[in-house]
Amino acid sequence: MSAAGDTEVQGLYRDCGVLVTGATGFLGKLTIEKILRSCPGVRTVYALVRPKRGISVDQRKKIVLDNVVFDRMKRERPDSVDKIVFVAGDCSSPRLGLSDSDYHHLTQHVNIVLHLAATVRFDEHLKVAVDTNVKGTMEVIALCHDCVSLKAAVFVSTAYSNCPQDVIKEEFYEPPMSVEETLAMLNKFTEHELAILSPKLIEPWPNTYVFSKAIAENVVLTQRKDLPVAIVRPSMVISTLKEPIMGWVDNMYGPIAIAIGVGLGMVRVIYSSEEVIMDIIPADMVTNCVIVSALATNTGQRLNEQTF
Ligand SMILES: NC(=O)c1ccc[n+]([C@@H]2O[C@H](COP(=O)([O-])OP(=O)(O)OC[C@H]3O[C@@H](n4cnc5c(N)ncnc54)[C@H](OP(=O)(O)O)[C@@H]3O)[C@@H](O)[C@H]2O)c1
Repeated sequence: MSAAGDTEVQGLYRDCGVLVTGATGFLGKLTIEKILRSCPGVRTVYALVRPKRGISVDQRKKIVLDNVVFDRMKRERPDSVDKIVFVAGDCSSPRLGLSDSDYHHLTQHVNIVLHLAATVRFDEHLKVAVDTNVKGTMEVIALCHDCVSLKAAVFVSTAYSNCPQDVIKEEFYEPPMSVEETLAMLNKFTEHELAILSPKLIEPWPNTYVFSKAIAENVVLTQRKDLPVAIVRPSMVISTLKEPIMGWVDNMYGPIAIAIGVGLGMVRVIYSSEEVIMDIIPADMVTNCVIVSALATNTGQRLNEQTF
């Protein structure tokens, strides 16, 4: 505890500007909610959000904050809503699609970056996967380099980014190809050719999602220079264990889709291997890990159960 009564994590976030990408998503919503509810000293949470399907960023802010997942935060920290600033941007665009004034403002006021935005579709077109997940990571790293007072940047990847390996340790692995080779490959083929050739081009990676995430990890490794960065690799994320409410989820990916199918009585048999472990983790444990990783990154300490 500090003199202000802060825990170590609250102390790190006190008076900080925090940039969260992917804030409209499943884990992004939980991340901003948890920071604002549990780190009352935080100055501002900037959410980089793109306009989508004719819905403006202001409208998206209202939709996001009307979600039930923010009810507890509004009750316990009524002032927290005023600390959220939605900034129009797009991770797949140069300089994150930010206006010059927003880019400048963020570089002056952001101290912690939590990069969650990604396309998580396994069957995403290779170009979109690379533009969003690889180029997006490059643009976030570039922004981090321009920040005048960065304490930590956390990049959310996946436990399966290096899935051709039998065992995944807390270390970097050789990417399928360098970022330069990846971009050259995209330039060599038309979008139609890429759609057809992708399964061969990305072998032995099984889908464009994990392929692009593996290259994104290599971008973090090779472009971070002296930045305080961390990579978090969650496995399959399921509903919340307890925070801010028990059992909350807002997507239908992977194990959630199976659970819904089983619950509806539509899925009665699943083809599987006895050898394979279905590695699932509740969403609130993931967001806690992402938030706390900024502390470990800033102080160079390793995480242990006490930190959570
Ligand atoms: N959920 C899991 O099981 C799981 C497991 C391991 C790792 N992860 C990682 O955790 C992170 C968050 O995943 P999630 O489950 O929360 O996914 P999600 O619900 O699909 O959210 C993805 C977020 O990324 C944003 N995004 C996508 N493309 C963008 C772009 N070009 N510019 C700006 N924002 C963009 C989306 O914004 P829009 O609303 O505008 O589309 C959305 O806010 C990802 O990095 C993912 O790889 C997730």
